Amino acid sequence: MTRPIILQLSPMSAELETALEARGERVRVDPDPDWLGASADRVRIIVTGGQTGAPHALIEALPNLGLIAINGVGYDKVDIAHAAANGVTVTNTPGVLTDDVADLAIGLVIGLLRELPRADAHVRCGAWATGDMPLARKVTGRRFGIVGLGRIGSAIADRLGAFGPVAYTGRSRKPVDLPFHPDAASLAAASDVLIVAAAASAETRHLIDARVLEALGPGGVLGHVARGSVVDENALVAAIEGGQIAGAALDVFADEPQVPPALIDSDRTMLTPHIASATVETRAAMAALVLDNIDAFLAGRPLPTPIPPP
Ligand code: 8YV
Repeated sequence: MTRPIILQLSPMSAELETALEARGERVRVDPDPDWLGASADRVRIIVTGGQTGAPHALIEALPNLGLIAINGVGYDKVDIAHAAANGVTVTNTPGVLTDDVADLAIGLVIGLLRELPRADAHVRCGAWATGDMPLARKVTGRRFGIVGLGRIGSAIADRLGAFGPVAYTGRSRKPVDLPFHPDAASLAAASDVLIVAAAASAETRHLIDARVLEALGPGGVLGHVARGSVVDENALVAAIEGGQIAGAALDVFADEPQVPPALIDSDRTMLTPHIASATVETRAAMAALVLDNIDAFLAGRPLPTPIPPP
């Protein structure tokens, strides 16, 4: 029997790539139309990253495609209903990256308020010998608000319990002992630190807009570990530049890897390059789950982590 082709649309670890090659012919990057013409019917699987997804046209051009395995928890870049209509199941990697994303959210908040990047630079560039750096801001005792109390938001809330009062907003009230706010603006008005952990969707696009940032106020800071689309980045730039909020610590951006120069130039921001799940341990666990899904698909068994069509 001809080996299936596994199309790989985004960078993966060398270990995952080797494991894919044991399961089929791995073809990296978007195939060009000529290539597709010759081999399109051999493609059974697409493996892709959460930020890359898979376009409609590609899915429609692959008659024997059965699985899109996302190496990530976010699936906003794949149209699940469209995939299902084309006979394609989509899987992701929930659970295994929750701790890392929550850890980074806490790190971002502490790093921003305590000005850790500036403190590190102060030592490295020799400025310490000529004086202390300006005082930073206290973390413990602040009021924290979490936008989106799913798996990741809940893990952030657990960690934040050690620092101060935590409240949340989301699509619905959860069975938790935390104050619920009906919308992001109301939560922002009651928070010193607003952390965005909501999944990206049409409903959450630009959920954090100028009005929410205004409610957060000149003493408030934003932490963001969800998806760039959940925050109106232009409104955020304006709020940072105009001092409507005190600062922002961001791991995700609207048009990655592009970052607005105003956010880079500002001393009110702390920026990381979408690294929330980027640890050796977690990327290995994500790869294992991607492979479990692929193996189940190839063997005709139920898939471990399918995303149900809406
Ligand atoms: C990854 C992510 O960076 O899980 C997600 O949704 O954004 C990250 O874990 C990405 O999916 C890597 O491909």
